[in-house]
Amino acid sequence: MKHQLNAYFILSGELPPESKEDLDEFFIQFSEKIQQSKKEGKFDIAWSIKKSELALKISSIDSISPHVAILRIRKQLAATIGKKYRVGLRGFKFKYYKITTEIDDQPIKEFTLPLTKKLTFSEKEGKNWVEIQIDPEISEDFVEKGTIERIVRRVSEKISKQKYGAKKEHHEIVFYSGEKELFTKENPTQLMQKANWIQRTNYRNQWILTPTLTTLSEALKQIMVDYIYKPLGFDQMMIPKLVDWSVWLKSEHAEGLYQGGFEPYFVVQPKEPTPEYFEEIADYITVTKTIPNDMLSEKVTAPIGGLSYAQCPPFWPWLQGRTLAKESLPIKVYDWSGPTYRYESGSAYGFERVDELHRIETLFIGTPEQTKKIGKDVRNKLRDVFEKALDLEFREARVLPWWLQQSAREDEEDLDELVVGTIDFEAYMPYRGSRKKSEWLEIQNISIIGQKYPKGFSVKAESNLELWSGCGGGSFERFLTAFISQKGLNPDDWPTEFKKYFDKLPTPVKFH
Ligand code: SER
Ligand code: ZN
Repeated sequence: MKHQLNAYFILSGELPPESKEDLDEFFIQFSEKIQQSKKEGKFDIAWSIKKSELALKISSIDSISPHVAILRIRKQLAATIGKKYRVGLRGFKFKYYKITTEIDDQPIKEFTLPLTKKLTFSEKEGKNWVEIQIDPEISEDFVEKGTIERIVRRVSEKISKQKYGAKKEHHEIVFYSGEKELFTKENPTQLMQKANWIQRTNYRNQWILTPTLTTLSEALKQIMVDYIYKPLGFDQMMIPKLVDWSVWLKSEHAEGLYQGGFEPYFVVQPKEPTPEYFEEIADYITVTKTIPNDMLSEKVTAPIGGLSYAQCPPFWPWLQGRTLAKESLPIKVYDWSGPTYRYESGSAYGFERVDELHRIETLFIGTPEQTKKIGKDVRNKLRDVFEKALDLEFREARVLPWWLQQSAREDEEDLDELVVGTIDFEAYMPYRGSRKKSEWLEIQNISIIGQKYPKGFSVKAESNLELWSGCGGGSFERFLTAFISQKGLNPDDWPTEFKKYFDKLPTPVKFH
């Protein structure tokens, strides 16, 4: 890697001429030290002073990056000249910063990156190169916090994304329930709509679950408690459903924003929550009976985050920055305290793909051994729910883990193929066609995630025990769509085990 940085420090005052020797000495020593630690590389600094600006030209080849050097210089130089000449360093500014590095491939299409002035790609001696010009306006804070390293990494990630498309799809079937008795080939959404079990609202992919469908959801809840949560010792909890950016930054969801796996609803705040501030709008609505969108958007902030997309990220602030007592491990909880939201782009979907969904989250935290064991137990119990209680025809597939789908990360290097990963449960939907050719419906997932969340939210365990987590998600909408699509609407055709969990289905409201 080759770097050229022209930058300057802003000093709090002018340095006297006799400081020249000290500065010369300082920079010679500084360069020598680097040269000693990186023997194969090359590292050069030239300096000059104009009034209260100390200009630096740093070039390096396969050595310490100049922006890392400048951070070190800031610290060491402040001590040298601060004491002796009573001149402080007010910070630094870049004038020009060019990084040249080898890359695996040429991009298919040119692209830009934030805080990057120019990207130039070339081929030389059979090798591919990129020249990255960092925007000189980049703040000191970003330089300190690793932004430049991430820009360099992002170049290769973008190229590999262009070349290999979106994330590599994995799909390896690892279990199949076998064929089950099927009672219909109809579209389950249409069946339920015709029977007045569900009603579409005016809003995209949002549904009203009538008492009939709610009774079935409640029956499923009891089944989950009896089959999974009670025997495995899980407790119910209520996780917040409004998620601010700090959570999605730590879970790394924010970096995958609308990149193909994470499509949240945004939440905004009123800029001023007062009657006066909104009076004009309220009056407008009163007289026109319409909503003045433009006026309104001026009175609200940028999104402060969004509505819960899956329950697990907003769970973690509970434990954030804490050290868990050994006796509290493993932690085993589930949440179905409120809906979660996804902005499903494209056309209107059926009940199997909703914007407002009633999700069940199953979450566990413990040592690697505890987490692996619980993950396996939950998976087996879920299998029991689908086989014994619902008599569903389904399969289990090892897929690309959801946290890689939902974040911007392209790498899978820290995945232990056998332990850490996601299993999807998928149900056959007869109305979509043959078992072989049709798309099955994902109704539930279960994952062993490893250290990602405890690390991201700085959660530790007593005596430095390693902490892992795992989680699983499913929704009543998906479970019931799958069930109705195989078994139809007539309870006579339904498994006795399921029917044990409700007395009588409420009679649907009829319309004239
Ligand atoms: N977090 C996982 C998901 O998004 C499971 O809860 O599906
Ligand atoms: Zn989860």
